[in-house]
Amino acid sequence: MSLRVILAEQRKMTNNTSDKKLETTLISAGRGKRYTAGAVNSVIQRASSLVFETVAEKKRATAGRTQGELFYGRRGTLTHFALQEAMCELENGAGCALYPCGAAAVTNAILAFAESGDHVLMCGSVYEPTRDFCNTILRKLNVATTYFPHTSGSEIEQWVQPNTRIVFLESPASITMEVQDIPAIVAAVRRKAPDAIIMMDNTWAAGVLFNALDFGIDISIQAGTKYLIGHSDGMIGTAVANERCYPTLRENSYLMGQMVDADTAYMTSRGLRTLSVRLRQHEESSLKVAEWLAEREEVWRVNHPALAQSPGHRFWKRDFTGSSGLFSFVLREQLSQEALADFLDNFSHFSMAYSWGGFESLILANQPKEIAAIRPQGEALLPGTLVRLHIGLENVDDLIADLAAGFERLARHRG
Ligand SMILES: Cc1ncc(COP(=O)(O)O)c(C=O)c1O
Repeated sequence: MSLRVILAEQRKMTNNTSDKKLETTLISAGRGKRYTAGAVNSVIQRASSLVFETVAEKKRATAGRTQGELFYGRRGTLTHFALQEAMCELENGAGCALYPCGAAAVTNAILAFAESGDHVLMCGSVYEPTRDFCNTILRKLNVATTYFPHTSGSEIEQWVQPNTRIVFLESPASITMEVQDIPAIVAAVRRKAPDAIIMMDNTWAAGVLFNALDFGIDISIQAGTKYLIGHSDGMIGTAVANERCYPTLRENSYLMGQMVDADTAYMTSRGLRTLSVRLRQHEESSLKVAEWLAEREEVWRVNHPALAQSPGHRFWKRDFTGSSGLFSFVLREQLSQEALADFLDNFSHFSMAYSWGGFESLILANQPKEIAAIRPQGEALLPGTLVRLHIGLENVDDLIADLAAGFERLARHRG
């Protein structure tokens, strides 16, 4: 399918899902008069103490402290409420908890529900620090984790145990980008463990290209550090939950002291206003680069969910309304250390950084053994070096020329 047809189909799907279109919601969400005080954007209300003039006012604030009354800084200020309301509208949630970074959102969401003796069922291709958290901190708390293969749909049932309390998904997978059959997984978990909490790291889709809660997931988590803030200059985590889970999540956050400062909450709300145009450009450029890479003879496979050759592409096509700017490709050969350093050190537009989701293009690489080490199911060793790209907002032809020059450098190492 050509790039233009893919994009047109996605637009059609996005625009059919609700009466208010996503682009419009991103502009209006969380901008009620209470939050903006007559300006366009929400106020930045920096506060620890929120002052009450009368005993009656203090009483009202205390009674309504979980329902948007100003109570104490750790419960949030108008700036936080504006962002929380916007996130709920975007992700169809009952409430949104905010955290100082994405990792805090992941770990605190898990800790809010796991108890000693519980079992966590975790997607085998999850973000590495999430796995490390389970293997160290959860283990210490007597919570066991089992990793299920990312290829599982309804087969996930065989790993659900009587004490499975949490099922944690991440789709597309970290680094290798496989897309999961979420509806089949959710249905199987609900059959076998109706009370289990299903959570998903939904960062790749920025919470808006895949509406996790509409697919029966209880909590949609994002490293807002990536696309929500979008400018690589702040960190935040968001967890949007349904009615069943929000009260527990909220109270756990409060007791664990999870809070983000008003300035970062403001920057996140500001990021939402340009999210749809940024995502559209990330998508268009990343597809163009992915299709160009798919034609290169040095490339074994392009792991871009919108490409037919990418694992789980059919689930992406069925369930997602678009793609963002992060994907990977696998070379036919495993690069030597010298060739890899020459490849990575000499790009003009791609920098190396352990992040993504900002306006700038980024590149990282992993050797097959490194990928195998973070996949406990021991999936087949990749034939060559994996390269992960985040396609930013530069002119895409400049990016392709930069990559072409990188391939020429590799050719010199072979010759
Ligand atoms: C998929 C995913 N989830 C969570 C995180 C953690 O986010 P943060 O760095 O904001 O803690 C990252 C960070 O790279 C990520 O890529």
